[in-house]
Amino acid sequence: MNSIVTIHSFRRGAGKSSLIANLAVLLTLQGRRVALIDTDFQSPGCHLFFGLSDDEFTHTLNDYLWGKCDILTTVQDVTSRLGPETSGKLFVIPASDKISDIMHIIHTPPNIEQYMSGLEKLEKELKLDILLVDTSAGLNEDTLQAIAVSSVVVLVLHPDKHDFQGTAVTVDMIRRLQVPAIHLVLNNVPDALDVEDARLQLEQTYHCGRGIVLPHTEELLALSSGQPFVLCYPEHPLTAQIKELAEQL
Ligand SMILES: Nc1ncnc2c1ncn2[C@@H]1O[C@H](COP(=O)(O)OP(=O)(O)O)[C@@H](O)[C@H]1O
Ligand SMILES: [Mg+2]
Repeated sequence: MNSIVTIHSFRRGAGKSSLIANLAVLLTLQGRRVALIDTDFQSPGCHLFFGLSDDEFTHTLNDYLWGKCDILTTVQDVTSRLGPETSGKLFVIPASDKISDIMHIIHTPPNIEQYMSGLEKLEKELKLDILLVDTSAGLNEDTLQAIAVSSVVVLVLHPDKHDFQGTAVTVDMIRRLQVPAIHLVLNNVPDALDVEDARLQLEQTYHCGRGIVLPHTEELLALSSGQPFVLCYPEHPLTAQIKELAEQL
């Protein structure tokens, strides 16, 4: 398998989906063939960043995992929504946001073999360079399985003691799963915090290499998960930081 990059956080609302959707866009603009896979079955939403409404697709990752369809029928090609100059390809594999499906998947967790064979087929048929996987927050069994098959895990946290503590446990767990690389992202950092101090704290606490620090950004909040920030604000300091992370992947 090519690179599987999984994004995770100890707590909800850390900024995972916003970050991974923007990473997907930057990697596609670099000319790569990218799939963005939504495994946050309890709070799905990766498709929203690309203006995809749920009446535009008939099948989701849930349907595939329940044996109702081929994985390829869940694929949404959103490349044209990134502009005419896009040299790569971006495919979104949405999760269902129907309440009945959300309730159903809580009681019937996905099978990891089925999940992996879906990823392998996507990689082969779509000739992917990279698979980006959004997960649900917290350490549950499904998420740990998705993490265990990853080549890179990006962990997102807020400057908050509870997050720092929970992330330490998460890093420890990911190391035990022998994931080759972990990147730490401190998100939603207020202006009052010094960026270099925050980066140093991240690096000294988790020993995962160069940390990424993302400022709290009102313009991102204002987009309300409806568009990729990096397309709307290509020159913004937040975009520069997300680019730095993209270069490490
Ligand atoms: N750096 C940031 N500055 C301001 N708002 C942010 C930032 N990162 C994320 N958000 C906002 O926080 C909320 C949760 O982000 P989201 O990506 O959905 O988190 P998660 O997927 O981890 O639950 C969204 O409203 C998003 O716009
Ligand atoms: Mg999310």
